[in-house]
Amino acid sequence: LAVSQVVEAPAPAAAVVAQGPREATILFGSQTGNSQRLAGRLADKLKGEGFEVTLSAMNKYKTNNLKKAGYLFIVVSTHGEGDPPDNALTLHEFLNSKRAPKLDGLKFSVLALGDTSYEFFCKTGQDFDIKLAELGAERIVDRVDCDVDFEEAAAGWIAAVNGKVSAVATSVSPQGIANVASVTAVAPVVESEYSRSNPFMAEVLENLNLNGKGSDRETRHLELSLEGSGLTYAPGDAVGVYPQNDPALVDDIISFLQWNPQESVVIGKAGETSTLREALLHHYEITVLTKPLLEKAAAFSGNGKLADLLKPEHKEDLKAYTNGRDLLDLLGDYGPWTFKAADVANLLRKIPPRLYSIASSENSHPEEVHLTIRKVEYEAHGRPRKGVCSVYTSERLEAGDKLPIFIQQNPNFKPPVNPDTPVIMVGPGTGVAPFRSFLEDREESGAAGQTWLFYGDRHFVTDFLYQTDWQRMLNDGVLTKLDVAFSRDSDEKVYVQHRMLEHGEELYKWLQNGAHVYVCGDEKYMAHDVQSALLSIISNYGGKSPEGAAAYLTELQEQGRYQRDVY
Ligand code: 2AM
Repeated sequence: LAVSQVVEAPAPAAAVVAQGPREATILFGSQTGNSQRLAGRLADKLKGEGFEVTLSAMNKYKTNNLKKAGYLFIVVSTHGEGDPPDNALTLHEFLNSKRAPKLDGLKFSVLALGDTSYEFFCKTGQDFDIKLAELGAERIVDRVDCDVDFEEAAAGWIAAVNGKVSAVATSVSPQGIANVASVTAVAPVVESEYSRSNPFMAEVLENLNLNGKGSDRETRHLELSLEGSGLTYAPGDAVGVYPQNDPALVDDIISFLQWNPQESVVIGKAGETSTLREALLHHYEITVLTKPLLEKAAAFSGNGKLADLLKPEHKEDLKAYTNGRDLLDLLGDYGPWTFKAADVANLLRKIPPRLYSIASSENSHPEEVHLTIRKVEYEAHGRPRKGVCSVYTSERLEAGDKLPIFIQQNPNFKPPVNPDTPVIMVGPGTGVAPFRSFLEDREESGAAGQTWLFYGDRHFVTDFLYQTDWQRMLNDGVLTKLDVAFSRDSDEKVYVQHRMLEHGEELYKWLQNGAHVYVCGDEKYMAHDVQSALLSIISNYGGKSPEGAAAYLTELQEQGRYQRDVY
């Protein structure tokens, strides 16, 4: 793993007080489900040790229980510019407020998920870790910060925590353990043999461009076969795809270094090998410059400038440099290099899978899964840049090919359990994908609840993704209302949030009638603007102050009635 991390070895049983607490609270803050899954894994381990375990999303947890939690374990991810996941917001804020209680006597540890290609790597986990210690809690296992390839580091943390607390559990009387009964329910996970670490090779059944001729965008509709995989999914879940790097970029890197593409290099922890070319094509990331990569590369550079760029006082220059640049840029800019092909395994990060929200319902398309992937291409620092997975799927993947995938369950983006509950869906661009899944599922089950879709893209004629599906759903009644915003068909930009504001009064009525609101798509601009629109609608039609409107929305979020799948 790319990041340096310290996992404290389990303390010997003798060093542990005999009467340690036998209750453990595990709180997760999770956007895409990874933290939640890891928290569940720790919960299973501790239950196995006879612990009474409370496993909960942070926003579902009553904070006045913190003082008596005994052990508190936190698993939390970080997003964007160091932001907590939606369901971690309230606890994060609470612990950083004046209302935060003293927590002496509480024993804790934090597992942080993140991505070293972001400046504020694992910031939310760090925030919790620092705050809990400040409040007087005792850190019993050092925090572990995981990069995108989190499995191994997370397993290390779970083992360390388990080692620490089981040493205590074995030192209490068996009677005490026998009394343990109540355990917070966890959704049972049906495991296929295929997973993130063992992807299924799914056959491509269809690969279509959803945009019409003359569009300035290209969006792929991929249909993949799940036949024989045992993989299942629900609306709101995502598929993880392991892409191939651009062969031209791989060849440029190899020839720049004058390496032999056929040289054998290590690709796995167990020492598996492949040719250098295959390794760079399939196994290692070559398109992102993370800080750990630059730090390691500096040791191989005969050029002092790279070490200089990494100095804390050049933080902003480093950020500007890494933005939009790849390994080939680095090689060109900071040579001469002393590393060999064999160093690749230590230098580069494993290629991370890309997550795509599923666009189909399993009930409508048995043993198939559909994805909506927009091609990302732009120009930066004098070279054309290509989104790794989107360009791979649009340029080099054909029907009949196999694609390595896994299902990523997303418990935080789920349609209402009650089929009568009204649903408002906001999904411009590829953000509409999960709503095709939601609605197809309602079509199959004959759900009666009202549904309202806000969709937007650039041009009506060329960019109306899945138009015929929405038409059918309007006709058969599963889609009650459809409002669209084509941003570049008029002089003035119109976006989904403008349509929401135009229909604010009715939208508020839907909310008052118990509607769930789902937002999917761009996080930085769209989801932010949509949230502002929601707040102003709640304030205008609910007669609330800005604070009142914010409280109303927080309440919706806590009830699972405002869910976001944003990226
Ligand atoms: P634009 O490209 O014309 O700016 C899907 O990408 C759609 O989302 C496009 O129509 C795009 O418009 C639009 N979009 C861009 N920024 C947005 C924002 N802040 N809020 C909502 N939609 C936005």
